[in-house]
Amino acid sequence: MNDESRRPDTSAPHDTPAAWTFFRQWLKNPRAMASLAPSSRQLAAQMVAQLPKGARRIVELGAGTGVFTRALIEHGIAPGDLLVVELNAELYALLRRRFPESNVVHGDACDLAEIAHTSGFAEPGGVDAVISGLGFLAMPRSLQKRILQAVFSVLGADKPLIQFTYGPSNPLPRDLLTELGLGVRRGGFAWRNVPPATVYVYTRNRSTPIRAVRPGEAG
Ligand SMILES: C[S@@+](CC[C@H](N)C(=O)[O-])C[C@H]1O[C@@H](n2cnc3c(N)ncnc32)[C@H](O)[C@@H]1O
Repeated sequence: MNDESRRPDTSAPHDTPAAWTFFRQWLKNPRAMASLAPSSRQLAAQMVAQLPKGARRIVELGAGTGVFTRALIEHGIAPGDLLVVELNAELYALLRRRFPESNVVHGDACDLAEIAHTSGFAEPGGVDAVISGLGFLAMPRSLQKRILQAVFSVLGADKPLIQFTYGPSNPLPRDLLTELGLGVRRGGFAWRNVPPATVYVYTRNRSTPIRAVRPGEAG
């Protein structure tokens, strides 16, 4: 192992202004941001490595400064085949500037079904994977459930939700996964990320159709 590979990879050195923008958003709303700094390139590579073979149309939730977005494009996903959803207005504006050819939406992951419909990503089987940077650990169960329902309403059978966590295990409650008929496997570990992060891959059991729930509707 050389000195270079020992060094933590924060991705910040080449992207300091964006890292500051991210940090300022964390100061304003630590719960929604769930992290002090953007993810590392190592974690982005581990997330992208979980894409199904031949994946074309991808949704990204909670894109932040676009570390995963960039990795997806470098992996070969066409910018126009990316639907990027970001809740924070300042980060949304940054993403729009950085990825003008992608479908960048200022919106809430809970509303993914409607957003996908409006953006032309809603046809059955149309989305090959959802990559998420959302901080599920900091969310109440009801919000986790709404987001999972929205995600799996746009994903075809066998298509994955790819998620990372800083926690020691899968960040979603087991009983919620059982209720929604979802399976999970560990995908990878980015030890050079700060803090180190684990990638998990969620898929739906074939016999479990999931539809999105609108606000006010019982989930
Ligand atoms: C931990 S950061 C991850 C950012 C980026 N993916 C990365 O890895 O560097 C979480 C991001 O999710 C966004 N976010 C939080 N709640 C959201 C929601 N309900 N819908 C869409 N984005 C959300 C935050 O604004 C923030 O940019």
